[in-house]
Amino acid sequence: MRLIGRGAEANLYLEGEEVVKERIPKNYRVPELDRMLRTTRTRREARLLSAARRAGVPTPVVYDVDNPGTTLRMAHVPGPQVKKEIDSMGSKERKNLFRRIGELAGRLHRAHIIHGDLTTSNMIHSGKRIFFIDFGLGEISEAVEAKGTDLLVFKKSLRSTHHEHEDECLEAFMEGYREAYPGAGPVLERLAEIEKRGRYFVR
Ligand SMILES: Nc1ncnc2c1ncn2[C@@H]1O[C@H](COP(=O)(O)OP(=O)(O)OP(=O)(O)O)[C@@H](O)[C@H]1O
Ligand SMILES: [Mg+2]
Repeated sequence: MRLIGRGAEANLYLEGEEVVKERIPKNYRVPELDRMLRTTRTRREARLLSAARRAGVPTPVVYDVDNPGTTLRMAHVPGPQVKKEIDSMGSKERKNLFRRIGELAGRLHRAHIIHGDLTTSNMIHSGKRIFFIDFGLGEISEAVEAKGTDLLVFKKSLRSTHHEHEDECLEAFMEGYREAYPGAGPVLERLAEIEKRGRYFVR
């Protein structure tokens, strides 16, 4: 087993063609609560990865959740994180990419799947497809608020990681999102509203 990633919550190992995501104990949490959180997030992630694929969004195939429920085994998706390739792309290619990401996010929301941590580090460009990963903070929800918040996370992450391309990427994303999701209108209105609220509280 080779360590391929050390996230805030989990260690990731590559074992043959499989990725093993092991949520690590946090000693600042009460042990029972800690185990419960790790179990809940692992099971949730497994469920949402499969739900997303059924909704037409590429995700790694889930093989197994281990018995205590804190380790997830899934297919290894070869390719770069989307985050890593953005700066080296031409403008047209980048817009095209973000349009497709918007479409995929629209498919998720159309199926009432909230990703929970929609960022370009949680997307892998593999061949011609874009895979979404890391659904551990996600949920199933029809709420416009949940969808708007999901988009806000994405918008903020663009601002912090791809600042110089933010407007261009966001515009392309929104185009794809609207096209894939007939309910986009109210969600985008809510997004604007949530942002206003945020500004109000900061002052
Ligand atoms: N199925 C997979 N195939 C290939 N690489 C993967 C796979 N799952 C995760 N990775 C790699 O491991 C990294 C961390 O995985 P993930 O995002 O699921 O965990 P995380 O704990 O949230 O990590 P982070 O805090 O870095 O986001 C991913 O950004 C990706 O590069
Ligand atoms: Mg991640």
